[in-house]
Amino acid sequence: MKHLLGIAGMSRESLDELLVLTDSFAEINARAIPKVPALRGKTVATLFFEDSTRTRLSFETAAKRLSADTLSFSVSSSSVKKGESLRDTALTLEAMRIDAVVVRHGSSGAPWQLARWLDCSVLNAGDGWHEHPTQALLDAFTLRQRFGSLDGLRVAIVGDIKHSRVARSNVWAFTALGAEVVLVAPRTLLPPSLEGWPVQMSEDLDAVLPTVDVVYLLRMQLERQNEALVPTLREYTARFGLTVDRAARLADRAVVLHPGPMNRGVEIAPEVADLERCLVLDQVANGVSVRMAVLFKLLAGADGSTASEELDRAGNG
Ligand code: NCD
Repeated sequence: MKHLLGIAGMSRESLDELLVLTDSFAEINARAIPKVPALRGKTVATLFFEDSTRTRLSFETAAKRLSADTLSFSVSSSSVKKGESLRDTALTLEAMRIDAVVVRHGSSGAPWQLARWLDCSVLNAGDGWHEHPTQALLDAFTLRQRFGSLDGLRVAIVGDIKHSRVARSNVWAFTALGAEVVLVAPRTLLPPSLEGWPVQMSEDLDAVLPTVDVVYLLRMQLERQNEALVPTLREYTARFGLTVDRAARLADRAVVLHPGPMNRGVEIAPEVADLERCLVLDQVANGVSVRMAVLFKLLAGADGSTASEELDRAGNG
């Protein structure tokens, strides 16, 4: 595996393999000194053309805990402002002998394009509305940690699915791992066609809630909406928000996930965001472990040694 571009097309075996590898890094992250020398001498650059809090900090933390060097590029303070193209920006990074580029870009497909131009590994940290593979892996890991397995779980993904790369990656990851997915949104917030998506659909959150193990909430991605897709945010909250009353009707074992950033009071009531069953901070913690596993998988052992030998060394280092 050289790149991590998307979840679509990944087999259950390869997803499972990454989740099992993540267990080792979760163990390292629980140590007093959560750092191993596994990627010493490697350099990881983050190339973010869109805003981010969690994803970027998480990738940087993951790389540092593996002892890789990190470089951080943000468009607002770079020569992209002077008209430099994506390709020239990328080739500049590569000329510095970077081993991996973590890219977030507003255009769907940008990471695939980079992977064609560059020799180093490319990791997709979100491309337009298309994919956000490490988010899906950390969500799957969080559910596996809570329930033991995703097999047979029923997951409702609620909200602005049309503009959500998180929803797209998660539909593939959750269903490949044996869960059943129901999308809950007004028609205007669903993609124009769901042909080929292995999902059910509903516009009735109240009917769906008592039937699910997981409610996965999405933010209204207003920056991507160039027309009014819901009458008002208040009406959206009234029909599709996870209010205190609605949360009280969830099954006892049901959990709530959200990729962040949350808009408290819109898709999730402030009190619900603070419930024990809301796993947002577990998701963030697991994000570091998952990204360590992915960086390790892509970058370690490129010199011929196997991943498990490297990890033994990392564990003992
Ligand atoms: C999301 C993103 O940017 O795709 N956030 C994240 O990475 N955790 C979702 C969002 O912006 O709503």
